[in-house]
Amino acid sequence: VAAEKGGYDHFMLKEIFEQPKALRDTLSGRIVENGHVTLNMEELKLDPAELRAANKVCIVACGTAYHAGFVGKYIIENLARIPVEVDVASEFRYRNPLVDAHTLMVVVSQSGETADTLAALREAKGKGAKVFAVTNVVGSSIAREADAVLYTWAGPEIAVASTKAYTTQLLAMNLLALALAEARGTLSAEEISEIAGAMREIPKQVEDVLNAAGEVRMVAEKIKKWNDAFFIGRSIDYAVAMEGSLKLKEISYIHAEAYAAGELKHGTLALITENIPVIALATQEQVLEKTISNIQEVKARGAMIIAVAQEGNKEIVKFADVLLTVPRTHPALTPILAVVPLQLLSYYTSVVRGCDVDKPRNLAKSVTVE
Ligand code: G6P
Repeated sequence: VAAEKGGYDHFMLKEIFEQPKALRDTLSGRIVENGHVTLNMEELKLDPAELRAANKVCIVACGTAYHAGFVGKYIIENLARIPVEVDVASEFRYRNPLVDAHTLMVVVSQSGETADTLAALREAKGKGAKVFAVTNVVGSSIAREADAVLYTWAGPEIAVASTKAYTTQLLAMNLLALALAEARGTLSAEEISEIAGAMREIPKQVEDVLNAAGEVRMVAEKIKKWNDAFFIGRSIDYAVAMEGSLKLKEISYIHAEAYAAGELKHGTLALITENIPVIALATQEQVLEKTISNIQEVKARGAMIIAVAQEGNKEIVKFADVLLTVPRTHPALTPILAVVPLQLLSYYTSVVRGCDVDKPRNLAKSVTVE
């Protein structure tokens, strides 16, 4: 087993550090260059005519894959200008969803075997929707039953807490968004090529974030004795906050909640007390000022602010007790970089609290019962 972990103490840490390679593999062959950058639509098995005919996208998944779908909503709506609904699979099935032949159904599943996600896929297919799967496992039930598959090529993920599967799912969401945008004509060739170019930089940028793992380890020491933590963010950062909060609770057993930063004052602020950790995501320029004002609100109540922001952010330095920076990229790609310090934070916190990192209590890697 030690050999399988490749010199790392846990599978989770190994998988966090495998992300640059996993992301390179996800991109490989999918953006082809012939003068300018364009997507390899054939491999995606998406018929541009069908993408044009779709009037909405439904993304359905569970757990971390659901959080990737939540990021996908922001990206697809922004780039391809089509309405996107996101549901957890166990809810989707039982709400008599409005799905028909004009719906592009997207199921996201690392294992391709999650019972609720598979059942949702069948429900949508039964209603005539085209099903597009994003999965990591070749030949899985979801891969077999979907109409088109985009494999994430992250390699086997052993730790229960998902890391490289999630970041590769985020790249897959960007690929899908670009394919939709191209088919629907919502972005110019220059815009597509700019985003595609930014995608190519991502593996190297993740490497840079991983090089600062030592700093995150020190933050784990600061939060380890707390029973509660809050994650806040606006826009796409809110989606990242949800994933950061799930990671922390599932492996360190610290109770964590994610809030849209603007929603704090509608209740959660009552729980903010002296030194309580608030992890604030602030990577989105267009809402930066608003996020900073929310950070000030919690700081005024004594919270310890651990901020995740883009390099060169001069404002946030004034308010953060701890600042974790990530390289600059296109707004649609920031989650891939911003989640990495959060993965590391959960990992190191779990280790210092003496938890079973790779096999948290009560949880399973793949849930094949409903
Ligand atoms: C379980 C795992 C999670 C995973 C979820 C969905 O809860 O512990 O890490 O995100 O199932 O799994 P899937 O294989 O469908 O992505």
